[in-house]
Amino acid sequence: MKILAIETSCDETAISVVEASGFKASLKFKVLAHIVSSQTKIHAPFGGVVPRLARREHEKNLVPVLDQALSKSKLKNYPSRRSRDGRKNLERILEREPGLLRQLLLYLNKIKKPKIDLLAVTVGPGLEPALWVGINFARALSAAWDLPLQPINHLEGHIASVLIAPSNKYQVKSNNQLIKFPALALIISGGHTELVLIRKWGQYQVIGQTRDDAVGEAFDKVARLLGLPYPGGPQISNLANKAKEANKLIKLPRPMLNSKDHDFSFSGLKTAVLYLLPKLGKLTTSKIAAVAKEFQNAVIEVLVKKTMRAAKEYKVKILIIGGGVIANTALRAAFEQATQDSHLSLLIPHLSLTTDNATMIALAAYLQTNKASLANKLIKLEARGGLMLK
Ligand code: KG4
Ligand code: ZN
Repeated sequence: MKILAIETSCDETAISVVEASGFKASLKFKVLAHIVSSQTKIHAPFGGVVPRLARREHEKNLVPVLDQALSKSKLKNYPSRRSRDGRKNLERILEREPGLLRQLLLYLNKIKKPKIDLLAVTVGPGLEPALWVGINFARALSAAWDLPLQPINHLEGHIASVLIAPSNKYQVKSNNQLIKFPALALIISGGHTELVLIRKWGQYQVIGQTRDDAVGEAFDKVARLLGLPYPGGPQISNLANKAKEANKLIKLPRPMLNSKDHDFSFSGLKTAVLYLLPKLGKLTTSKIAAVAKEFQNAVIEVLVKKTMRAAKEYKVKILIIGGGVIANTALRAAFEQATQDSHLSLLIPHLSLTTDNATMIALAAYLQTNKASLANKLIKLEARGGLMLK
């Protein structure tokens, strides 16, 4: 089965085409196209993602990204004659995205319906204005091509991203046989910090989350305090790697490290950096590096200890970590070390699948096909805020 998936929950306009077959140990995936158009440069001057701009960029980018995905997957065909079948609804579906409607109508006139079996789209959690563009675009394609449409939770996408082994981005065979339940997933990105207990594919329970800022958001805000550009995660990580000696003055709290629940809090850490900086006198590069390192150490200690504690309490066998922040090498190393001598196996996605992408959405959609009945009709879609508890 060929799945075309669309992801626009934040600042990446992404479309992938994945060919999938089999279940459990015979599960196989082939990534036919993996297109991600990032808006990072547009949001950088604002120090974070601006929803209104994200929406505008998605509107502009979706048709070109679709064109790239169809070309790359060799599913782009030209018709012998123009056809307008199935396109009457599009004006209604895309009434709030007139620019996108114009581009799409022109594009659909040029190509034949591609050989795709299923469409999938991220419906949340994420930035609502950004999500809606992707959802309406997917609904329009579903109407134009008469294809079923599967709504996908973004967090489930991050979880499913580990189905493709890290060493082999476009591999054919999945590593699904490695996954044993119950499993625990830690999702850490600019918008998320969630601990999700997975009893089996499709059965998720959020057992812990941030009470304020997400981990990536904290990296970005602290980087800003240190005068570093957005996105701050890679900047802090680079500086922290260069930091030499420890400075006794530079000590930050480990928020909620010993709390009895599995929740996190990172905004206090940012405030602690804000109060610390004036006490350090002239901010030399080495002092900034030392603060970056201490901040990163604090985040790592809290994430690793609390995640390992939750893994023990729920007796999980597999720990999955997804989201942009796991690109952090020190954090990866800390989790590798923490799981080394335990019965817990660590699964981290390929680097290209840690940040937002549509391949993970297609993988999640395929996991759902065995339980959902995919009637050939438009599924009612809504941008929704939280992960559904089952
Ligand atoms: O998953 P992602 O691409 O987008 C969201 O859904 O937010 O994650 C982006 C976040 C940003 O906050 C960025 O600063 C952070 O991931 N990030 C990192 C690193 N690389 C990206 N944080 C810490 N260390 C890194 N190396
Ligand atoms: Zn994400």
